[in-house]
Amino acid sequence: MLLLEVDGVSKSFGGIRAVDKCTLEVEAGSIVGLIGPNGAGKSTLFNLVIGTYSPDVGRIVFRDERIDGMPPYEIVERGLAKTFQIPREFRSLTVLENVMVSARGEPGESPVLSLLGLRRVWRREEELERKSRDLLALIGLSELADEPARNLSGGQKKLLELARVLVMDPSLILLDEPVAGVNPTLSLKILSLIEDLRKSGKTFFLIEHDMNVVFNRCDRVIVMHQGRVIAEGKPAEVRAHPAVLESYLGG
Ligand SMILES: Nc1ncnc2c1ncn2[C@@H]1O[C@H](COP(=O)(O)OP(=O)(O)OP(=O)(O)O)[C@@H](O)[C@H]1O
Ligand SMILES: [Mg+2]
Repeated sequence: MLLLEVDGVSKSFGGIRAVDKCTLEVEAGSIVGLIGPNGAGKSTLFNLVIGTYSPDVGRIVFRDERIDGMPPYEIVERGLAKTFQIPREFRSLTVLENVMVSARGEPGESPVLSLLGLRRVWRREEELERKSRDLLALIGLSELADEPARNLSGGQKKLLELARVLVMDPSLILLDEPVAGVNPTLSLKILSLIEDLRKSGKTFFLIEHDMNVVFNRCDRVIVMHQGRVIAEGKPAEVRAHPAVLESYLGG
């Protein structure tokens, strides 16, 4: 089943065509890698899918529904979520609070809602806290739950990003360089977590510069260059593709 379809999508910033007539698909239950040199348009493509930007032209379809032009929160409600290339944790909130805030969409419960149904809100908060703690256990950050997020290492911040996305229960998760700058041990942990989550039914679309990660962990690989998709297929096919060898892997 097709989960995501990007069809003829372009986006320019001033004179720069960051994404140029991009067409690609993501199958449900797969791990799809997106590669390409710096400035190829990968992050911009993700930002188009998640609604940070609207395409100049083209269509983006998620679960048979057009989502291009929708505000990000409506897209997230439909089961899509994205991590940031640079983690954006709230530095002075605790690790646990960072996860909980992600699910609520804002720090603190709406005062009006609280007045209308204090008990219900409390229960929701309790459930959310339990779910957030479960997620921290899953990613191995339980012991740091009450630490301010600023105390985490770079790799731990990437893990926290993942928990902050998972708490929203997305079916398709866009990961912008999930293991960039992360030490090898923590990288392996993040990658096996992704594999486990895929087995439990999640779909991943990830940007990654590490070719070992891309070619060993992804079912399909899509290559962008100057805003365009120049190759796609199984890792072995993409690795041998002449255009990829020339433009990306350096001949
Ligand atoms: N908000 C913006 N305003 C102006 N130009 C932008 C903006 N976002 C991206 N660009 C430009 O669009 C092009 C694509 O950038 P993008 O960040 O999508 O590349 P990328 O493939 O993610 O690169 P990297 O691997 O370095 O993260 C670049 O030329 C970039 O400078
Ligand atoms: Mg990028």
